[in-house]
Amino acid sequence: MAELALQDVIKRYGATQVVHGVDLTVEDGDFCVFVGPSGCGKSTLLRMIAGLEETTEGRMTIGGRDVTHADPAKRGVAMVFQTYALYPHMTVRENMSFGLKIGGADKDEIKRKVDAAAQILKLEDYMDRKPKALSGGQRQRVAIGRAIVRQPDVFLFDEPLSNLDAELRVEMRVEITKLHKKLGATMVYVTHDQVEAMTMADKIVVLRDGRIEQAGAPVTLYEDPDNLFVAGFIGSPRMNLFDATVTKAEAGVAHVTVPRLGDLVVPVALNDVPRDGQAVKLGLRPEHFNSDGELRANLNIDVVENLGGVSYAYSSQDGDTHPVIVELRGKSRPEAGGVLTVGFDASSALLFDAKTEQRIR
Ligand SMILES: Nc1ncnc2c1ncn2[C@@H]1O[C@H](COP(=O)(O)OP(=O)(O)OP(=O)(O)O)[C@@H](O)[C@H]1O
Ligand SMILES: [Mg+2]
Repeated sequence: MAELALQDVIKRYGATQVVHGVDLTVEDGDFCVFVGPSGCGKSTLLRMIAGLEETTEGRMTIGGRDVTHADPAKRGVAMVFQTYALYPHMTVRENMSFGLKIGGADKDEIKRKVDAAAQILKLEDYMDRKPKALSGGQRQRVAIGRAIVRQPDVFLFDEPLSNLDAELRVEMRVEITKLHKKLGATMVYVTHDQVEAMTMADKIVVLRDGRIEQAGAPVTLYEDPDNLFVAGFIGSPRMNLFDATVTKAEAGVAHVTVPRLGDLVVPVALNDVPRDGQAVKLGLRPEHFNSDGELRANLNIDVVENLGGVSYAYSSQDGDTHPVIVELRGKSRPEAGGVLTVGFDASSALLFDAKTEQRIR
């Protein structure tokens, strides 16, 4: 088990730079999740940690050892891929044993480690089958088993569950979380799935264009985002972001006028109050609307999505690119085409500088 540290890590393919100086520490035993839009560098960074991609500049350590340019096999990492990458002609046992065999481990040791991993992953009944006779979830468990037997310091997962159906994903998500607790290993996990990121991570790293936008505990990113990008990226459905203007600046309070909420004036308490007239964005999550909030606005409802326990009302006005999304619970649900009166508390609103896109606190 070990801490993983990246210092000013850069990746270039020829003249094209795709990772621009990443600094990151993943504490020993932490579960770290990389998220970000397609092409932002998640897989590249993971493959650099694995040693499958050369690191152009910067430094990487695992448990204090410099592994920046170390051979993949000497890093103490094991990677699990989206595509499983199992050997089709080998049985489950042979697939799980292969790496150890190549590494020169003796027969008894291999059997002991493979049996232990099979027990953890509930694969004992499938050890003599070939991959083609397994379900997607079972194959993924074999791929994870192959990583476990190597007893790596750091596990690396690149979207391991994205080929599985919804039900199996939930099951495997819980299995991997349990496995993490059981092994106490450091894990780095790439996903597109908001729920996986929020529920599995000790630390989420939000990447954009090869840079870290913010890294922190899931609730920190959700409740206290540093910038507009993280605010919009974390959370599903996404945070509502309203164009707004500071119309009165006082000590400790910015009064912000929001045209899309009928020129409602929202008093936002801040340490650092922007000047009068400044263009800002006001953020409110769908669940921040409630029937007894202190501030009120009327919204024309275009669409209502009813998910059973919860529904989402979508409201747009002329020229809007993003609808306002309101979370609704309870029995009384508005109809599409109707008007919904929403309430919210000023204390739940977040403010961002419209130009720099940074949070105003
Ligand atoms: N061999 C290469 N040569 C040049 N550019 C590359 C090469 N491999 C990857 N890239 C670029 O590096 C960037 C990061 O790619 P990467 O695969 O890490 O993205 P990702 O965040 O994993 O995306 P996705 O979510 O789609 O898997 C992309 O813009 C990609 O085009
Ligand atoms: Mg990728």
